[in-house]
Amino acid sequence: MQQDPVSMIYSAVGSEEPFFRLVDRFYEGVAEDPLLRPLYPEDLTKPKEHLALFLIQRFGGRGTYSQERGHPRMRMRHMPFKIGIKERDAWLNNMDRALAAVPEFAAHRDTLDFYFRDFATFLMNAE
Ligand code: HEM
Repeated sequence: MQQDPVSMIYSAVGSEEPFFRLVDRFYEGVAEDPLLRPLYPEDLTKPKEHLALFLIQRFGGRGTYSQERGHPRMRMRHMPFKIGIKERDAWLNNMDRALAAVPEFAAHRDTLDFYFRDFATFLMNAE
C-alpha cells in the first residue's frame, strides 16, 4: 500500500520542537500582517498551540489535536473568517517564510508546499 507522504513527515523530522519553531515563526509573520492580523484573537497563544498540534497530528505524530479539539472539521472551523484569494495568499506567504526559516523542513518542501496550497484553497469561503 502506498503511504501518504504528508503523514511521513513527522517521523522524518524526528521531534516536535521544529513544529513549535515553525508555528512561532508563522505567527510572528501573522502578527505583522495587516490583512490577517485582524482575523485572529489578540492573544495568539491558543492559535499557536492549535496549529502546532494539528500539524504534528496530520504529519504523523501524536494525536493530541483530535483528543482535545475533536474531529478537525477544518472547513467548518474556518467559516467564521472571510477567506478569499488575498487571505489565502497571505496565509501561504507567511507559511512559506516560516518554512524557509526552519531547516528541518527543507527536505520536505515539495510535499509541504503542495499540501498547504491545496488545503488553503480548500478552506476558501469567499472570492
Ligand atoms: C487559507 C487561509 C487561512 C486563514 C485566513 C486562516 C485563519 C484562521 C483563523 C483566524 C483561525 C482562528 C484562530 C485559532 O483559534 O486557532 C484559524 C484556526 C485554525 N487554522 Fe487556519 N487559516 C487559514 C488556513 C489554514 C491552513 C492551510 C491550515 C492548516 C494546514 C490551518 C489550520 C488551522 C487550525 C488547526 C486552526 C485551529 C482550529 C481549532 O482547533 O479551533 N489554517 N485559522
